[in-house]
Amino acid sequence: MRILLLLAAATLVAATPFTPKKAEPAKPLTAAQKADFTKVIQPMFDAHCVSCHGPKKEKGKLRLDTLELTLKGGKNPTFVIGKPDSSMLLSRVFLDRTAGDVMPPKAEKPMTEKQKEALYAFVEGQPISDELAKAALADTKAALAAAKTAAADAKAAPKAKK
Ligand code: HEC
Repeated sequence: MRILLLLAAATLVAATPFTPKKAEPAKPLTAAQKADFTKVIQPMFDAHCVSCHGPKKEKGKLRLDTLELTLKGGKNPTFVIGKPDSSMLLSRVFLDRTAGDVMPPKAEKPMTEKQKEALYAFVEGQPISDELAKAALADTKAALAAAKTAAADAKAAPKAKK
């Protein structure tokens, strides 16, 4: 009986044209791409994403605190370099700010156009120009400074009320 079932299964498999859903072999990143990630993308993720996608919280099973973990993805793949249009991470970052799925979530400080442009270029596999890198980094720094001020205000607020 078992053998019969196996045979039936084998015939079925043979009869169905079957293209295995192999994960696309991701090309290793070039040294320049790695450098761009370290210089521009990681600080951006640190400022906007890692509070929820890092060592403390791992929302969507996704961590963005290292290049390796970013490429590993969460419940879903994040991106393949060279394929920006099928990137789940990019699509969520580029969603309209009113969309429920937008990242970072609505209540958080959004990423700026320059930051998003740099991220897109990186996923596209394009070098991030010096000018764009500078602008994106300036926005990242501003976001970090704003977060610091907000945290300090939150700390000071209860005392001020008393
Ligand atoms: C305040 C918390 C918070 C911040 C900040 C945040 N996220 Fe998320 N993120 C979530 C939650 C919660 C989920 C899981 C639910 C969902 O998929 O919407 C998620 C899911 C995701 C997913 C889908 C993961 C998967 O594999 O299904 C991606 C991609 C993502 N976030 C990217 C980002 C990026 C990029 C940033 C920074 C620009 C960011 N997130 C910032 C809370 C956050």
